[in-house]
Amino acid sequence: MKYPLIIGNWKLNGSNLMVNSLINQLNQKLFNIKNCHIAVAPPILYIDRVSKVISDNIKICAQNVDISLCGAYTGDVSIEMLKEIGVQYVIVGHSERRNYHKEDDNYISKKYSIIKSFDLIPILCIGENETQNKTGKTKEICKLQLASVLDNQGVQAFENAVIAYEPIWAIGTGRCPTPVQIQSVHKFIRDYIATYDMNIAKKLIIQYGGSINEKNAAEIISKPDIDGLLVGNSSLNASVFSKIVKIAQASKLI
Ligand code: 13P
Repeated sequence: MKYPLIIGNWKLNGSNLMVNSLINQLNQKLFNIKNCHIAVAPPILYIDRVSKVISDNIKICAQNVDISLCGAYTGDVSIEMLKEIGVQYVIVGHSERRNYHKEDDNYISKKYSIIKSFDLIPILCIGENETQNKTGKTKEICKLQLASVLDNQGVQAFENAVIAYEPIWAIGTGRCPTPVQIQSVHKFIRDYIATYDMNIAKKLIIQYGGSINEKNAAEIISKPDIDGLLVGNSSLNASVFSKIVKIAQASKLI
């Protein structure tokens, strides 16, 4: 049985006060949720604290990791450090890192590999920009972004892993592809992985991310190849995020 996976990516948001309040509310609202995998991705500074107080059924996701394990890499954080403080998922290839930090597919593939080698679960973000969308290049771009991991590490790298389809033009804009369009891209991704290994493709969790809210979540998550949601802005509000989790849980309970 594949449970939906809902992750709240807090990005660069928070303060001591805000984190305490968000965690208290999430614990109250979500502690008894079953049949749904839930995680939050706080800024690195708060991970240790969140990990210690969060309800057992809410897992911890890191927003980033470095490719090195130790040494003279000022400002970086290693996968061992993340694992030691209870991180289970790590986001890699987010468009904000691709854009603002110039991370390319090759570098992202190295990050992916280090996450896998420490038995943590990578959330590989892929997706097209607005121009690519308008010129019908969405699937081609997704395929290219997946190829760097497939070529370097083989399809086994997608065992116990997550792909998040996040069209760049939908992130933080309030604009979303239609549920039918998202389903079509997700099916394409699964079919592409299936050309390498049918079983891995079947089990693969494919999340959607980009302007998810409590109004659009139900129709999107109801589609067969949409296994989860990577939620940005809406995850900063405990009531909204909890609603999205409950919608997803109910939608996949058949
Ligand atoms: P928004 O939900 O704010 O559009 O962000 C999506 C995202 O980038 C999640 O990683």
